[in-house]
Amino acid sequence: MSTQRRPLIAGNWKMNGLREIAMPLAGELATKMNNAAPTSFDMLVCPPATMIDAVVDVAYESNLAVGGQDCHMAESGAHTGDISAQMLQDLGCSYAIVGHSERRADHGEMDDVVRAKAEAAQAAGLIAIVCVGETEAERDKGITIDVVAAQIAGSVPPASTSENTVVAYEPVWAIGTGRTPTSDEVQEVHAMMRTKVTEILGADEADKIRLLYGGSVKPSNAVELMGLADVDGALVGGASLSHDDFWQIAESCP
Ligand code: 13P
Repeated sequence: MSTQRRPLIAGNWKMNGLREIAMPLAGELATKMNNAAPTSFDMLVCPPATMIDAVVDVAYESNLAVGGQDCHMAESGAHTGDISAQMLQDLGCSYAIVGHSERRADHGEMDDVVRAKAEAAQAAGLIAIVCVGETEAERDKGITIDVVAAQIAGSVPPASTSENTVVAYEPVWAIGTGRTPTSDEVQEVHAMMRTKVTEILGADEADKIRLLYGGSVKPSNAVELMGLADVDGALVGGASLSHDDFWQIAESCP
């Protein structure tokens, strides 16, 4: 990891947790962030939309950032059940995940939709975490690099900066399975991602932009993954629901 990129450890709680469990989890992390300050990493939690307000309250005056798991591409309008980036910002969020593979698969979101959502997040003053990653069939076919490169070209807005954008590589087959690519495979994809981002944003921004790895990140593999040259943090699902595991992952940052 470059010394000029501050690692980001992001927890995606997905559709998990009711207030009874989530509030102590957020509280524990906020307290740990304060007690450990200054930390060598940024920490973010992305709770279900129902709990963002309460988690923002718990994280108040701590260095724990809060984000949404998705946002709509429009500012407002007739979109029943959707939440705009502006609404997330209004609640106190500073990040929004866009293009998670579960959104791409469950809601048919293609790259152009993901890019529009990332633009909406950026316009609302949020940092967009743009997710990309190949399926197992694509890896087996040997087309991982092409698939991820095409997703970056299609999903990362051309006007992005390292300040308002993070890109997360999450191989679909590694999510929630306990399986991960080898370190060499992760670094190969991340190096390509930085090259691809350089084509879109230019060398200065690409050098500063944070590239996260996600997919079965645990305390036991975090030191190795976080130590890779082009990995600048983690997007964590299951292990982010345990404050001890999530904290240990954060402390694995070099
Ligand atoms: P797991 O850490 O549970 O594999 O999930 C990764 C993920 O999808 C984070 O967005």
